[in-house]
Amino acid sequence: MTSSSSPPSTASPSPVRFLTGITTSGTPHLGNYVGSVRHSVRFSRRADVQSFYFLADYHALIKVDDPARIQRSTLEIAATWLACGLDPERVVFYRQSDIPEIPELTWFLTCVTGKGILNRAHAYKASVDKNTAKGEDPDADVNAGLFMYPVLMGADILLFNAHKVPVGRDQVQHIEMARDMAQRFNHLYGEHFTLPEAEIDDAVATLPGLDGRKMSKSYDNTIPLFAPRAQLQKLIGGIVTDSRAPGEPKDTEGSALFQIFRAFADAEETAALRQAFADGIAWGDAKQAVFERLDREIAPMRAHYEALLNDPAQIERILLAGAEKARALSRPFIGRLRHAVGLRKLEAPAAAAVRKSAKVARPSFKQYRESDGRFYFKLLDANGGLLLQSRAFASPQDAGRAIGALQQQPQEALAALAEQLEPVDNAGMRAATDALEVLALSASGG
Ligand code: TRP
Repeated sequence: MTSSSSPPSTASPSPVRFLTGITTSGTPHLGNYVGSVRHSVRFSRRADVQSFYFLADYHALIKVDDPARIQRSTLEIAATWLACGLDPERVVFYRQSDIPEIPELTWFLTCVTGKGILNRAHAYKASVDKNTAKGEDPDADVNAGLFMYPVLMGADILLFNAHKVPVGRDQVQHIEMARDMAQRFNHLYGEHFTLPEAEIDDAVATLPGLDGRKMSKSYDNTIPLFAPRAQLQKLIGGIVTDSRAPGEPKDTEGSALFQIFRAFADAEETAALRQAFADGIAWGDAKQAVFERLDREIAPMRAHYEALLNDPAQIERILLAGAEKARALSRPFIGRLRHAVGLRKLEAPAAAAVRKSAKVARPSFKQYRESDGRFYFKLLDANGGLLLQSRAFASPQDAGRAIGALQQQPQEALAALAEQLEPVDNAGMRAATDALEVLALSASGG
């Protein structure tokens, strides 16, 4: 057995953390699928990213005051992500309101955010401008939740120290505000937060809706992703077209029907439909072709979706397990933030005293090989008690890299290594985090 105390030189970089929230205010439609879900699910399978997906139900309360709709939408959106292939074992998939650290951080951030900045946030400003144009009081019918929306979103992002936040262009300002909050907090209280960046994917299509405008809940022109087959066919039949008769060549340019087809079809299929348009396909036949193509992709997921909707208890279990994973990170982190801002136990020793005692009795790593031929490590407290137990690594170098990462950046590494450690309960995670902090402090010469 060797005790590794100095980090190996080749510490593996922790994966990039992506985080996305979906407001639980409606039923997922084809536009959500093409514009976000499909892409995110593919992305979440990459080995070099760690993904956080959550159901933003606190955000939903800002615009929805119908409890049944909030609950239903949460179920539908969770089922949609799972049916589309999101693997809750691979990603951290949770419900915002299961993470009490989010509202707590929201308050910390509220206190470092200028009110003037929030006055300029697009969503709030749009409401004010509308009221002003109507000659009404600027804040008529504006709830304070709308005003605070960017701070709650900042807390979502900063709590997990996300590097990248995939969003539409309309959300970029919110990410910039989250960066500002992070910077301001870091400036006041020390380097706690990663500065997040918006990740805008212009390759991701926006889809036209039934009337040809962008498919959106607010235009009431959507096609629900998992509408039953017959309803899907009927809705596609209702997509606007021009009045050209069968036999007349049709324009693909500006055709909502063609755009929708293209979002699902490969290049060859798209070329074939383009040719059919030029050859004067009847609109009815074109619609049938679009329906068949979409249904081919959707049908297997729809079956899965329906099975999930019929078993809400299973989704509830998945979300609670996800919240546990998320809180293994957020709970110790909020503890450090509370300490940083001065919400401290009155008898707690000052940081300097902790550093001193840390030199005397320190936690330690033990690295070893098992009879299975694979490599493991443990983190032990100063008295030899077990704090963390790793799973198997293929090589001692891999195990060493994990140890190095835990010593250098405990918070980041615990997140990155969640799959390579045996699970511990919350109190255990707190103790392990504290021990790693002690090691990190003493390594940095404190
Ligand atoms: N504001 C996002 C939307 O309107 C939802 C959201 C809430 C979100 N919190 C977030 C997105 C954090 C990304 C990161 O859909």
